[in-house]
Amino acid sequence: MHTVSINWSSDLEIGIPVIDSQHKRILEYISKVKSVQKNQSRSEVMAVLDELVDYTLSHFAFEETLIAEAGYPFLKAHLKVHALFTRRIEDYCQKAKAGMDVTDELLHTLQSWLVNHIQHDDRDYSKVVKANLEEASRRVRTKKASWMTRLFG
Ligand SMILES: [Fe+2]
Repeated sequence: MHTVSINWSSDLEIGIPVIDSQHKRILEYISKVKSVQKNQSRSEVMAVLDELVDYTLSHFAFEETLIAEAGYPFLKAHLKVHALFTRRIEDYCQKAKAGMDVTDELLHTLQSWLVNHIQHDDRDYSKVVKANLEEASRRVRTKKASWMTRLFG
């Protein structure tokens, strides 16, 4: 199977820098697997693939905490989407460990799933999460300001 290479582009941005950079990093890992695949041994491909899967799963966990804290109303649905996809990834990992060559398939699935997920599901929570992050930093600023007033005011 041939995997089409994708690069980061602004239409993948959801406007939350910490999430955008994690998404970018996943795409970079995908490219890394592809380049290693061309001239490295199977065990090296497996090692990078492992990193990619690890990073993706910890990104999911991070994102889930962020959207839960923001009180995103469709949290449950988003968690379910992540869980279903995680199971799919784990299936691939098991096949790979059993000696099957699933690298192309895994990359292709991950790439097309991720792009679609970012542009729809993730974009959907961005407004709520952004508002929550702005509110949190406002609270920190106010706290700091009143503390300084007490001390130096
Ligand atoms: Fe997500």
